[in-house]
Amino acid sequence: MYQALRGTYDLLPDEAERLRSFLNRAISILERAGFREIETPIIEEARLFDRSVGEGSDIVSKEMYTFPDRKNRLLALRPEGTAPIVRACIEHNIYYANPSVRLYYFGPMFRYNRPQKGRYRQFLQLGVEIFGSEAAYTDAECLYLLSEILKEAGTGSFCVELNSLGCRTCQDNYGKTLAEFLEKRKEELCEDCRNRLQKNPLRTLDCKTLICKEILQDSPAIKNSICIPCEEKFKEVLRYCDMLGVKYRINDKLVRGLDYYTQTVFEVIAEDGGNAIAAGGRYDKLVEDMGGRPTPAIGFAFGLERCLFNSVRAVEPKKKGIRLVYLDKPGETRALEKAFKLMVALRRQIETPVTLSSKEGKKIGNQLAMADKDNCRFALIFGPEEIEKGEVILRDLDSGTQESLKETDLTERVKKC
Ligand code: HAM
Repeated sequence: MYQALRGTYDLLPDEAERLRSFLNRAISILERAGFREIETPIIEEARLFDRSVGEGSDIVSKEMYTFPDRKNRLLALRPEGTAPIVRACIEHNIYYANPSVRLYYFGPMFRYNRPQKGRYRQFLQLGVEIFGSEAAYTDAECLYLLSEILKEAGTGSFCVELNSLGCRTCQDNYGKTLAEFLEKRKEELCEDCRNRLQKNPLRTLDCKTLICKEILQDSPAIKNSICIPCEEKFKEVLRYCDMLGVKYRINDKLVRGLDYYTQTVFEVIAEDGGNAIAAGGRYDKLVEDMGGRPTPAIGFAFGLERCLFNSVRAVEPKKKGIRLVYLDKPGETRALEKAFKLMVALRRQIETPVTLSSKEGKKIGNQLAMADKDNCRFALIFGPEEIEKGEVILRDLDSGTQESLKETDLTERVKKC
């Protein structure tokens, strides 16, 4: 028997329905805040992520799915959405035409990591990027939108953890301080962190090795290396968050697993613990680093499986739709033909799903039981007697009550179902 690959999963219809309904509500919040949709390909040149997410990051160095194409170009399945969006905006001159563009996207991302609860190799993100504003209130607006959307997901209680990584100068200064601290215990660090110490000491902060984590617990906090303008900006972000009633907790050990961040960074953790359900931050230098003109930016992405399918709320499939059931006298097809024509006519006129029984020749009772199993809410019954009288029976499959309708009154009545 075949099975889905490790770290991947099938999104079954009940879950797909729940996902779609959440996306509709989330997108409505975003569109009312001026966001527009963008979609980029799933495959990109691998080097796009080296420059942006960072060669030293786990995502690029250990988790990226890369492969040569037929012309030997190294491609990657996108591990995240921000770098491709920036690439697309530069390529299509979007920053010139729309200096304050707001975009959202939704789709699968790929990371070859060790699968566990809530961690997949193919997972879905809903991402949001705002370009062109360096104002502190934009950071707060981002966090507000993120909280509003999470409320729609019904994820339960969650906490926004917030930190400032400062500008590039602050990060360089902090890198030196951190390297000095770690140098003293270099021999105890894992091999990866000894390398990181040379190339990018900040990356040691998200090492998962127990011994490195223990050593880093006593490491100097980044806030002591932050310049006064960055410190003031962070205070302003907090002030605007308070103004909008965004609840947060400052976590001065929070760094992100991607290199492009500057200043505000955040992660959202569900109160019942576990992995981050959403995360993001400011990346004021990325557009410039990737060849665009200097453009401040901030964004975040939700891990949709973590928002929607890890929560304890069970999905109760809702009964909906109308099933057309029919029974003809032997050798006749009048009932079938009426039902068949009505099926397409109703689909044009009402939004409720309309399906035709697939149990040709089976008793009406059998067909109704099947409709009930398929979670239909109503049935329209075309029996031999009804056909003679030019009538149809509408049956409520929940309560079992039914009424006879004239064929001519049918559509108006069914619209109310
Ligand atoms: P990220 O923190 O790498 O950031 O991912 C964002 C969210 O995607 C995570 O908080 C998590 O919910 C979800 N996620 C990540 N990896 C997995 C996985 N293996 N399985 C399931 N869910 C996962 C980014 O990707 C940035 N591009 C976010 C951003 C947008 N920053 C600025 N703009």
